[in-house]
Amino acid sequence: MKKRIVVIGGGPGGYVAAIRAAQLGAEVHLVEKEYLGGTCLNVGCIPTKALLHTAELYHTLRHGAHGLTIGQAQIDWKSLMVRKESIVKRLVQGVAGLLKANKVELHMGQAVLQDAHTVAVSGPTPVQLTADIVVLAVGSVPVQIPVPGVNHAGVIDSTGALSLPQIPKSLVIIGGGVIGTEFAALYNAFGTKVTVVEMMPQILPPVDGQVAARLREHLVNLGVTFMTEARLSEIKKKAAGLTALIWQGSEQQEVTGEYILIATGRKASVGGMGLEAAGVLLDQGKIVVNEHFATTVPHIYAIGDCNAQIMLAHAASAQGVAAVEHALGHQSVYNGEVIPYCIYTSPEVAGVGITEEQAQARGLAYKTGVFPLMANGKSLIEGCESGLVKIIADEQYGTVLGAHIVGPRATDLIAEMVLAMTLEATVDELIATIHAHPTVSEAIAEAALQVRGQAIHWPPGVKVG
Ligand code: FAD
Ligand code: NAI
Repeated sequence: MKKRIVVIGGGPGGYVAAIRAAQLGAEVHLVEKEYLGGTCLNVGCIPTKALLHTAELYHTLRHGAHGLTIGQAQIDWKSLMVRKESIVKRLVQGVAGLLKANKVELHMGQAVLQDAHTVAVSGPTPVQLTADIVVLAVGSVPVQIPVPGVNHAGVIDSTGALSLPQIPKSLVIIGGGVIGTEFAALYNAFGTKVTVVEMMPQILPPVDGQVAARLREHLVNLGVTFMTEARLSEIKKKAAGLTALIWQGSEQQEVTGEYILIATGRKASVGGMGLEAAGVLLDQGKIVVNEHFATTVPHIYAIGDCNAQIMLAHAASAQGVAAVEHALGHQSVYNGEVIPYCIYTSPEVAGVGITEEQAQARGLAYKTGVFPLMANGKSLIEGCESGLVKIIADEQYGTVLGAHIVGPRATDLIAEMVLAMTLEATVDELIATIHAHPTVSEAIAEAALQVRGQAIHWPPGVKVG
């Protein structure tokens, strides 16, 4: 008999899980309370990248680079918003079409677990669904920081920052993580005065320090102000705008902006779901799962942002596939050690595997190979001199342990390193791979050569900072 699966949440975790389960012959119901495509398609990955794409074009045109002289380039903010929305709409419609084609039954409404096998859906057409298997794919919400003044009008989150009525003159961003740096790059390119306040010593704390420092230097040169080891203590409304009171060491400073964007992380969205009624356990606000993404109730799975292991769309999708394959008795593979991350600033940042700081902290015997993109022809053609490719490899065998790139199209280049790590390749295999010329990918082979101290296009013994 067909298994009946109820997937709660229609983001990249939930809708991919639903399609995979349908492919495997299950009867699948997908419940979504707000928007098909979830955070990613509607207010995350897709709209941010649509705006960042235009920001990069605008920056290039304005700075008359690449041998072009163009009349005054202007942003048509309204058209840009329309373009962003139309890309989102097309993708959301595409997901709806795929669900239909795979015979997944979609229920628009809020799902609540009545017990471990019953899901009540409220909304335009209330329904009660019984399930053999439940997949929780309910995503995440922004972390609220308990600081006086955070409820003033003009204090926004990433969703608010995607739909401002016009380009702000100034923006203070609290949190120099992924959202903070992407929005800093975005609005800085559009001419906004941007200040980023980060509590840690480096921006993008989990990213390799050398790579994060390169990006920071680049963004500073473009006009972004960073305050690190700095904490927001209060927001005050003043005539000039919103003033953030910031403690940096023992000094208090004031930074004023038209808007203040809070980007201090996201947390699993688990409230009001009836998890207790079903017996699903949480630990510090995260749904507890095993290696197959099963919760403490074996037929209830939790995937994507809501288990808070890693908050990336492609990780959510991969977890969704692994969960339903396991639930339906198939062999599933999920390699949580080899998940790429991509940051769509200009230049882009991407990486996979461990950072040099992690290699040190784990006491590994490792070597690094760093190749600067100022010595790569295609990077110069693309107008990026400040990037680099860094490979971290096991000292004895040269197995790739991690790779981090800051530079043009880093987000596409990283795929080679993801495949290399999936195949447990060594730097010698990267060296033996012939890379086309002129491409930025040549820098990957050169970084691999650098692990052996043998780069062709960089002088021996000259360290890359
Ligand atoms: P979500 O996409 O959040 O989907 C969860 C869905 O569940 C939502 O649609 C919600 O309405 C629904 N739901 C919740 N509760 C219920 C309920 N009780 N009943 C019914 N439905 C419910 N990741 C990347 O990999 N690349 C990027 O470039 C990127 N950019 C981002 C930019 C921003 C500004 C943000 C905020 C995030 C970004 N992310 C990016 C992260 C990415 O969006 C998430 O990791 C991804 O969406 C997680 O997918 P998910 O399916 O777990 O959750
Ligand atoms: P984040 O965890 O990346 O960054 C939050 C930052 O805020 C950290 O650097 C942290 O040190 C800092 N911070 C926390 N409290 C602070 C305080 N009180 N004052 C100053 N700084 C403070 O979280 P972010 O940027 O909110 O993004 C949330 C999630 O969305 C991330 O997990 C990320 O994976 C995902 N995302 C992914 C993108 C991508 O893949 N390109 C783009 C945007 C978001």
